[in-house]
Amino acid sequence: MAEGPLEIEDLPGVGPSTADKLREAGYLSVESIATASPAELSEVSEISESTAKKIIKAAREAADVGGFKTGKDIFEQRKDVRKLSFRVPELDTLLGGGMETQAITELYGEFGSGKSQIVHQMAVNVQLPTEHGGLEGSAIYIDTENTFRPERIEQMVNGLGIDDVPDVQEFLNNIHIARAHTSDHQMLLIDNSRELAGELRTSDKPVKLFIIDSLTAHFRAEYAGRGTLAARQQKLNRHMHELFKLIDEHNAVGLVTNQVMSNPAVFFGDPTKPIGGNIVGHTATFRLYLRKSKGGKRIARLVDSPNLPEGEAPFMVEEAGLKSC
Ligand SMILES: Nc1ncnc2c1ncn2[C@@H]1O[C@H](COP(=O)(O)OP(=O)(O)O)[C@@H](O)[C@H]1O
Ligand SMILES: [Mg+2]
Repeated sequence: MAEGPLEIEDLPGVGPSTADKLREAGYLSVESIATASPAELSEVSEISESTAKKIIKAAREAADVGGFKTGKDIFEQRKDVRKLSFRVPELDTLLGGGMETQAITELYGEFGSGKSQIVHQMAVNVQLPTEHGGLEGSAIYIDTENTFRPERIEQMVNGLGIDDVPDVQEFLNNIHIARAHTSDHQMLLIDNSRELAGELRTSDKPVKLFIIDSLTAHFRAEYAGRGTLAARQQKLNRHMHELFKLIDEHNAVGLVTNQVMSNPAVFFGDPTKPIGGNIVGHTATFRLYLRKSKGGKRIARLVDSPNLPEGEAPFMVEEAGLKSC
C-alpha cells in the first residue's frame, strides 16, 4: 500500500459518502476500521456486510493489525518502557516506579478526588530530566471540562523543590492544550495530536505524555439512555484504541480521567457499574481509584493491574502540588 498514513477513503470500497458516514460514526482512521466488526460497519455506513468484510480486510492489511508478534518482539518493545514519576514515593511504589510509557493509566473517582490535580502535576513532571523522574518531554492535554489552569502549573513548578528548573513560561510552552467541545471533536483531536506529536518528534521536547481530562464526560452527556449505550461504548473503545496507537508510536504515557459517582443510585442502568467505567476499564492498562480521606488526605488504589499487586497509597494535594502525607 501507499506510504504515509492512509485515509479511510484510500480503502477499496470506501467512497466519499461511505467515508462521511464512517467518520460520523467515529471511524476516523484505518486502524479503527481494522478493529471493527462487519456488522457494526455495515450498520453505520449502510453497506452490505460482505462489502464491510472486504473493507475491514483491506484495513487490516494496511494498518498491520491482527498479526502475531512473538514474545521476544514484545519483550524487545517493552525494554523501551520508561517510568514517569509522580515525585511522591508512595505513589511511585504503587505503580512499580511511576506511570509506564506504552500504557494508559486511568484515574477514576468522584468530583474533587484529585484527578485533574494529578494530571497537572504529570504535565510538569514529564518535562523534567530523568534524574528528577521526568521523561524530558512535552505534554498534549485534551481538556474537555475547561479545567486546565496555568496558575496551577506555576504553583506546581515553584513547588518542585529542585534547583535550576527552567522558567515557568518554559513549562507552559511545553504543554499543548486543546479544548474538546463534543465527543466527536475530542476524537478528532487525537488526529491533531498525532500531527503535532509527529512535528515535535525530533525536537528537544518530544511528546511523552498524552492526557485526556475527562475521557468520559462528553460521552456520558451525549449518550444518555439505554438504547445508545452500545454506540457509546463502541466509540469510546475506538477512541482508546487510537490513543493506544499514539502512545505506542511515541513511547509515551497515556493518562485519562473518568469521573464516577460514589452514590451510583443516581444513575440509570446497572447501579454497581458506573457509566463509562467498564469500557474504559477493559482497555486502560492501569486503573487508579482515587478517594478523599480524613485531614485532606487522599488515597489512590491500584485496581486490576496486569503485573502489579493491588494496593493503596496515600498522598496530599497541596498548593505546591502532589506531596507525601
Ligand atoms: N492550589 C491548591 N492548593 C491546594 N489544594 C488544591 C489547590 N487546587 C486544587 N486543590 C485541591 O484539589 C481539589 C480538586 O481536585 P481536582 O483534581 O480538580 O478534582 P477532579 O477529581 O474532579 O478532577 C480541590 O478540591 C482542592 O482540594
Ligand atoms: Mg477534573
